[in-house]
Amino acid sequence: MYRGRRLRKNQVIRSMMKETVLTKRDLIYPLFVVEGENICREIETLPGVYHYSIDRLCEALDEMREAQVLSCILFGIPNHKDACGTQAYAQEGIVQRAIRFIKSYAPEIYVIGDVCMCEYTDHGHCGILNAEGDVMNDETLSYLNRIALSYAQAGIDMVAPSDMMDGHIASIRQTLDSAGFQNVAIMGYSAKYASSFYGPFRAAANSAPSFGDRKGYQMDYANREEALRELQADVDEGADVLMVKPALAYLDIVREAKEQFSLPLAVYNVSGEYAMLKMAVDQGLVREEAIFESILAMKRAGADLIITYFALYLARKIDEGVQ
Ligand code: PBG
Repeated sequence: MYRGRRLRKNQVIRSMMKETVLTKRDLIYPLFVVEGENICREIETLPGVYHYSIDRLCEALDEMREAQVLSCILFGIPNHKDACGTQAYAQEGIVQRAIRFIKSYAPEIYVIGDVCMCEYTDHGHCGILNAEGDVMNDETLSYLNRIALSYAQAGIDMVAPSDMMDGHIASIRQTLDSAGFQNVAIMGYSAKYASSFYGPFRAAANSAPSFGDRKGYQMDYANREEALRELQADVDEGADVLMVKPALAYLDIVREAKEQFSLPLAVYNVSGEYAMLKMAVDQGLVREEAIFESILAMKRAGADLIITYFALYLARKIDEGVQ
């Protein structure tokens, strides 16, 4: 008779049998930077996460160093928005300045820059619109190239295009290479679904579309094979890291991506997933351990890297010996 309980007898044997372990180097911490001065303001829709102006970004970086989470992904919230998202590729744009600051204050931190236009356009879509209000793919590519190049010039380590335009990885790769930035890596938001779980982020980044939705460029959550095509396209176009986003509702895709592709695989544990769990834990509806349970599920499914608002929390728990 199979007696699985023999190997669950006590804490020691249980920990010897543990198949999945979360480490600090799996974690990427999202940082929101805003214009202005002396701002370190908790985001209403993301309790425990803050908006930082550049003069106070050092506080977040100090916390990262303290927790030994050494990689971040930057999101910028500009004061000025327009139809072409010009602040997204401005030399003195919010993200460009943040990159330069981080590289001077904490050079050991690995800096990833989200490349997209929705935070910078006045209409809130992820690209350039035609007269009918559709995002024009190929016109948008040239703007994405400029954003990625401006990040590279500011000293970024990795760019992560989240716009879901076709051909964007190849286009950005070529732009970076011909400007001498062959060593800047690209993480594709390869299989990015049109998800309701981005709500708290859009409130935090003031990036909700002013009309319509993103279903013309982000993926239908009913689809699995389409995700495999998107992942394959990113591989073919030269991505260094693939991603599935969101995480929790798409762990089947994560498992399959891990099995089919040999590139490193990231998941994005998005704002809605964070907010749901955080608020449920804060209100005592589920035990705090549910956070580890959820994050470990992503690793167990095959994620090598996890972008999560819980990153600092998880790192501190790892220090306490949790898991
Ligand atoms: C930009 C972008 C979004 C997220 C990451 N990059 C928003 C969106 O696509 O609407 C969402 C991240 C999160 O919800 O935590 N396109």
